[in-house]
Amino acid sequence: MPRAEPAAGSLVGGRYLAVLGNCQGCHTRPGAAPFSGGRGIPTPFGTVFSSNLTPSASGLAAWNADDFWRAMHHGQSRDGRWLNPAFPYTNFRNITRADSDALYAFFKGLEPVDGVPPPHALRWPFNTQWALLVWRRLYLPTTDAQPVLAPQNAADAQLRRGAYLVQGLGHCSVCHMSRNALGGNADMLSLAGGFIDGQSWYAPSLRDPMDGGVQNKPAAEVRQLLQSGRGGVDRTTGPMAEVVRHSLQHWTGEDMVAMVAYLQSLPPVVSAKNRTAPPPPRRVWDSGAALYDKHCADCHGAQGQGVRGADGNWAYPPLRGNRTVLQSSPANLMQTVLYGGFGPSTAGNPRPFGMPPYVLTLSEQEVADLLSYLRAAWGHQAGPVSALDVQRLRDGAAR
Ligand code: HEC
Ligand code: HEC
Ligand code: HEC
Repeated sequence: MPRAEPAAGSLVGGRYLAVLGNCQGCHTRPGAAPFSGGRGIPTPFGTVFSSNLTPSASGLAAWNADDFWRAMHHGQSRDGRWLNPAFPYTNFRNITRADSDALYAFFKGLEPVDGVPPPHALRWPFNTQWALLVWRRLYLPTTDAQPVLAPQNAADAQLRRGAYLVQGLGHCSVCHMSRNALGGNADMLSLAGGFIDGQSWYAPSLRDPMDGGVQNKPAAEVRQLLQSGRGGVDRTTGPMAEVVRHSLQHWTGEDMVAMVAYLQSLPPVVSAKNRTAPPPPRRVWDSGAALYDKHCADCHGAQGQGVRGADGNWAYPPLRGNRTVLQSSPANLMQTVLYGGFGPSTAGNPRPFGMPPYVLTLSEQEVADLLSYLRAAWGHQAGPVSALDVQRLRDGAAR
């Protein structure tokens, strides 16, 4: 097989590309050497363990650049084994050969670390190669990778770069996409929103400006949100704060501009779900309003108007009109109120104010009353939250 060696000097580039793709996040066990693999990635079908990407015998020692390209582009290991799509090759297949080679050079330049990842702990039939073959036939395009945004002219370069980042290395759709019972979607690059971590978080639709879409926000504010974890009234929390911490905060300004331009270019799709719900019954409203005054109003304001700090930024974000409050799914709202939240500590926002947890203070019924009130107060019409919703999230929350 011809051995395609990457160009000299691509190491710096490869290190950056590994940050764009957040390879380290999945390929490092807590406390272990970076990229040495063995981290368990939970899926609805069991746990998949990430590979060792260092150039040791249990890692990439025997690999050449063609082997690496086949894994990234085609989801196939060096020994011919079909790889589990918990490795997001449905996105990575969109990257260029040059970027694959630069990544390969970066991993080959690492210190070799021994360590064979544990075997995957998947339920039958998901642990079989034929199941992966069926899955590939359903969800992996047979055509060669399509340019995610067809190049028209030079002016498109920025949007094309943005699409490449979002749909390729950035693998945003891995979370921002719904999955069927087989873990697939007719459009594996869909950004229409979906649940992750067993329904305990909702990665909102990046197409819907009322959900997670950023089409109607000032570009500078969106860049600030994605680079520092805080922009305008919006904050990133939970799994998204991790993406900011490990990947997005390190992106170059140019790539950030390109990504935001692409996100803002997505045609808006507004779903009417939960946007005309009637107010909750009197008992719930009164109980929720009293809980809000007692526990939340000091920081977020009696009318949910928020409080600005001396620097002009929101110290306590407004809850009136807040998308986390109004999202079609209340999952992230429940997470925030139950478990509190700190934005990621980033260069752009080194000491975020914290939101206190209420899991020990409020009962499930009280949380339900409070959130039903919040989702109906101040003209909101987002629909109620039940004590059962809160209980399910508490039981399933992997925190
Ligand atoms: C969302 C988690 C996740 C991310 C992000 C991720 N990987 Fe992986 N990767 C995995 C898992 C899980 C496997 C094991 C799949 C299997 O064995 O079937 C894997 C396998 C691989 C393999 C195949 C190794 C082998 O032995 O066959 C390569 C190569 C690889 N990843 C490279 C990368 C690179 C490069 C990046 C960053 C650009 C990256 N991965 C980001 C989860 C991830
Ligand atoms: C590991 C899963 C995961 C990945 C990968 C991911 N997101 Fe998210 N994202 C989430 C979750 C969960 C939320 C909801 C929590 C929040 O608002 O911070 C979210 C929220 C968002 C929001 C709305 C933030 C707000 O407060 O209004 C934007 C915009 C966003 N993501 C963009 C992206 C982009 C762009 C990428 C790819 C570079 C990406 N996400 C990758 C899980 C993810
Ligand atoms: C001590 C002050 C304080 C109190 C009390 C407080 N919060 Fe917060 N809250 C914050 C801060 C600070 C943030 C922003 C955290 C961040 O930047 O990630 C926040 C964030 C939030 C968010 C997420 C907003 C977004 O845009 O993502 C929600 C929802 C929320 N609080 C609701 C509540 C509710 C409901 C209560 C009462 C049960 C409450 N808070 C009580 C300080 C407070």
